[in-house]
Amino acid sequence: MAAYTTQTITPRYHHALLGWQVKNFPELDFLERNWTKFFASQTPFQLFAKIGKLGSDNIDQGKFAGRPRFERAGDMVGNMFYAARDIIRAQCSTELASIQQHRLTLEEAPTDQMKVAVLRVMAEELRHAYQMFWVLDHDPTWKKPGHPDIAAETLDELLSMELGSHVLDAFNIPFKNFLDNVVFATVIDLVGKYQLEMQKVFAYAPMARSMSPMLSEEGFHIGSGRSFLRELAVRATAGEGRFSIADIQKTINAWYPRGLEMFGNERGGETNVQFSFKDRTNGTAQSEYIREVHEVLELTNAAIVQAKVKGISAVDARAMARQIRETREDHSGITADDLLFVPDARFFRRRGPPEIVMQPYDLEGKLLPIAAPQYLEYLAGVLPDRYRATDEFRQYSEQLLGGQAIGGRYGW
Ligand SMILES: [Fe+2]
Ligand SMILES: [Fe+2]
Repeated sequence: MAAYTTQTITPRYHHALLGWQVKNFPELDFLERNWTKFFASQTPFQLFAKIGKLGSDNIDQGKFAGRPRFERAGDMVGNMFYAARDIIRAQCSTELASIQQHRLTLEEAPTDQMKVAVLRVMAEELRHAYQMFWVLDHDPTWKKPGHPDIAAETLDELLSMELGSHVLDAFNIPFKNFLDNVVFATVIDLVGKYQLEMQKVFAYAPMARSMSPMLSEEGFHIGSGRSFLRELAVRATAGEGRFSIADIQKTINAWYPRGLEMFGNERGGETNVQFSFKDRTNGTAQSEYIREVHEVLELTNAAIVQAKVKGISAVDARAMARQIRETREDHSGITADDLLFVPDARFFRRRGPPEIVMQPYDLEGKLLPIAAPQYLEYLAGVLPDRYRATDEFRQYSEQLLGGQAIGGRYGW
């Protein structure tokens, strides 16, 4: 039995999303024509919603524990109705935005394999957007008597979002070179994986049924990110390719803090657990994410060591890389600067708990005894120049110099 059934959405929004694709992702045609050449073992791409199975019929946690999941949005009352809509809207915004971001630097892919993988990622993000459209579009109770048509209002807004007006910060940052595609797939799609995992418990059943099919596609995005990161790092080690290890590290320094912020404030998330929108609070999920990013970079470092030390086993390479990183002592001609590392979670944070937001923490998590202008100089040395030219960084600098933090929504 298939793991899911499929559905399409009403012609109005089906055509609207196809119109969006023609404008934002015209390369889809090329991918579809060449699909079997590149992904022979994969079912050809199709734009529909995949309706998976629920882990349980009843809600297992929070204030509705024990009752059946909500099949109709209109049965969710008060805050819960709008909070569910906000999560679906944020999710869909990330899917559409990442297509707009990947496309900017698609043509710079160092290999055909990398380019085609990014095209597939973009196609699958389009299907994820379609999935969120289905969640809102198939259920007439998103329109309640006396309320505006929440579904239509949200879908129309999503179709008009551009980089700069998306819901979450990480999705308003334009890609400037191919390292952005690769590091984004590695650290930002990974946050997406955590969100989808957590949302399997979603109290609104159509959203919960959407998670497993999306998760299985996310696996390809994260896997591609990791293998291309390893490939580029190993090439950098050999002095090949456009990018150095320092370039890769700076790119990680820019994106990883944004990934941490996508969980929302690390002290929050209780309401989502109470409503059974997620099974974990923000802080719990974020710490698991931090551990996983450490694991990914340790494996990348092991590959760097294996490229330099002939015949060393993966296990020994990993141990050696860790030792070099921790002691900062050279070994077998490898220095700490030849390897990658995960910045401290307090580094370069624009959002989060007040004691770390807009504070001058360095990459190691040390609070630097310096004022805002000097911290901007420090950041100039550890972030890519191209990132410092974005609106996101301009806003950050203005806030830093103005001495204030921003509020508002920043996680799902
Ligand atoms: Fe996605
Ligand atoms: Fe993805």
